[in-house]
Amino acid sequence: MTATPQAGGYDASYAAWQHNPASYWAAAAQGIDWTVPPTASFAADQGVYGRWFPGSELNTCHNAVDRHVLAGRGDQAAIIWDSPMTGRVETTTYAQLQHRVAHLAGAMAARGVARGDRVIIYMPMVAEAAIGMLACARLGAVHSVVFGGFAAAELAARITDAEPKLILCASCGLEPGRTVAYKPLLDTAMDLSPHKPASVLVLQREALLAALKPGRDEDWLAAEAAATPHPCVPVAGTDPLYILYTSGTTGKPKGVLRDNAGHAVALHNSMRMIYGCEAGDVFWAASDVGWVVGHSYIVYAPLLAGCTTVLFEGKPVGTPDAGTFWRVCAQHGVKVLFTAPTAIRAIKKEDPEGALLAQYDLSKLEALFLAGERCDPPTQVWVHELLGKPVVDHWWQTETGWAITAGFRGLGLFEMRPGSGGKASPGYDVQALDEAGQPVPRGQIGSLAVKLPLPPSCLPTLYKADDRFRESYLETFPGYYNTGDAGMVDEQGYVWVMSRTDDIINVAGHRLSTGAMEEVLAGHPDVAECAVVGIKDSLKGQVPLGMVVLKAGVTRDEADIARDLVRLVREKIGPVAAFKDAMVVSRLPKTRSGKILRATLRKIADGETYAVPPTIDDPAILGEMEGTLKALMR
Ligand code: COA
Ligand code: AMP
Repeated sequence: MTATPQAGGYDASYAAWQHNPASYWAAAAQGIDWTVPPTASFAADQGVYGRWFPGSELNTCHNAVDRHVLAGRGDQAAIIWDSPMTGRVETTTYAQLQHRVAHLAGAMAARGVARGDRVIIYMPMVAEAAIGMLACARLGAVHSVVFGGFAAAELAARITDAEPKLILCASCGLEPGRTVAYKPLLDTAMDLSPHKPASVLVLQREALLAALKPGRDEDWLAAEAAATPHPCVPVAGTDPLYILYTSGTTGKPKGVLRDNAGHAVALHNSMRMIYGCEAGDVFWAASDVGWVVGHSYIVYAPLLAGCTTVLFEGKPVGTPDAGTFWRVCAQHGVKVLFTAPTAIRAIKKEDPEGALLAQYDLSKLEALFLAGERCDPPTQVWVHELLGKPVVDHWWQTETGWAITAGFRGLGLFEMRPGSGGKASPGYDVQALDEAGQPVPRGQIGSLAVKLPLPPSCLPTLYKADDRFRESYLETFPGYYNTGDAGMVDEQGYVWVMSRTDDIINVAGHRLSTGAMEEVLAGHPDVAECAVVGIKDSLKGQVPLGMVVLKAGVTRDEADIARDLVRLVREKIGPVAAFKDAMVVSRLPKTRSGKILRATLRKIADGETYAVPPTIDDPAILGEMEGTLKALMR
């Protein structure tokens, strides 16, 4: 493999991209096998803001699997499934992966799945989740993976929007202390959704077998074993590879669309440039396939680069202890570990001196990458001192699919500054803007935005929703993509991401919409109005807090109502929302035009100083809220 635009250090590489983006990405495209190479890097006249690699044809599964077998890497481990939840470790080589993916693709094709059809994948952290994704890619079908911690209603919303022809699911997931029966959740979701997929393939796990509905549900492994292997189907580079739903500002999730060509080029390029990994290296992203980090760095990027990827079914603590991450790194010779700061905080809490870490040989581990939320400097410094290796916080989003800012091991890693997400990746022109869309001076806080066009792998649009894409991301600052994050770019080009500018919160690295939770609370018969804000949490970064005003005449016990509300959010959104606190208040602070002052509420709950908003209806309420929230926080 070929010329890539990695030569020189970071500054040279970033300048090369700035000077000639088309030739930068054309060089990166050489790392990918094409059935029809692109005629140009970028077509500005296509799509909403342009499209990458027009006229090209490729297959992502071929690039992630088959080409490595053809290149003689068939016996190399492709996936190491390490599951402290079951006590099992299983390795799938590239040749075995090709065999399984081709057969599963054959089984899906026999059930009518073809290029462009959607397939929902609702799976725990087992190798079959990745196999299912790759089988879709092989057929040119479009997968949409739904995180297991979501409730049936969220799954139903995704089934309704994506209209899948087939669903891949497992009988259960394993969480510490409980078995999550996935199949009944799927059955409920399919009852709730007006769209009825014809086929479901169910991976039966030993811990809990699922009942199969005759005529619709079939045993996954039996179908795979009986199938004729299917070859890779070449698709247009601009064809969709997947849809990943993410929280928007309302209850309706946004279907982030990812294309085949831009995704393959950018992710392949990122493995060497950012993580410093090559074919044969072991890479571990301790995340979940249901999130973008899992899509990009458990499945696609390491496999596109011919690495071995670790797929871990467990938690950073409690499975069985806070040494698990270090055990996995030592046992499998992990070169680069990628996880969320919340996982490191959980480990730090249980093993502050690193006594468990000292039991393992981490000589092969070269760096730790963090993302999903801003890493608080004390945590970054703690883990850096403990490991004695570079710790890189890097900033990205479901929408981009890879890092907007980072430290670059393949470009001579510059000094990382705790609290900053590093410098802009080649491909991204990041600016902090004022309300009028003008760049603010370096070192001042503004809305973080990326100058259009976005680089390859970023969303070309939202699924079936070009207008929502424009409204959500492009209209606030014409000529820019609005990230929804606020922060600054300093004199040396480091980007500091401080907070969201919308009502998205980040709970244990999981992105959630407080608007969606408010919709659930507002649906309770006793609730007149409500607000949900994300408040600081020493482990999860943020957790949601619900405040409700009851309808006049409601006499039910407030604690009962609060319990109802907690149960409702769990039922409608899922346990992952970690919605554990709801309180009844007599009124909520509002502007004179009736808008609830959520940012002020959050500051009061976090004990921060706040300015009394000039537009507030009744300033006296703030003192009242302070008293109530302080009492709750105690
Ligand atoms: N399927 C079903 N339920 C799930 C689930 C899944 N895949 N993942 C989480 N849940 C449930 C949990 O069981 C828990 O339920 P509970 O309220 O009954 O206890 C709830 O969702 C919250 O889970 P989680 O966020 O994992 O919190 P936790 O308290 O169990 O663990 C941490 C705390 C910090 C250890 C954990 O959040 C963690 O490992 N975070 C890292 C997150 C991450 O990798 N993010 C990806 C971004 S890179
Ligand atoms: P998600 O789409 O789930 O990956 O969440 C993306 C959001 O998480 C971003 O918009 C940020 O708000 C936050 N985020 C992710 N990584 C970082 C980081 N390294 N620093 C600060 N915020 C981050």
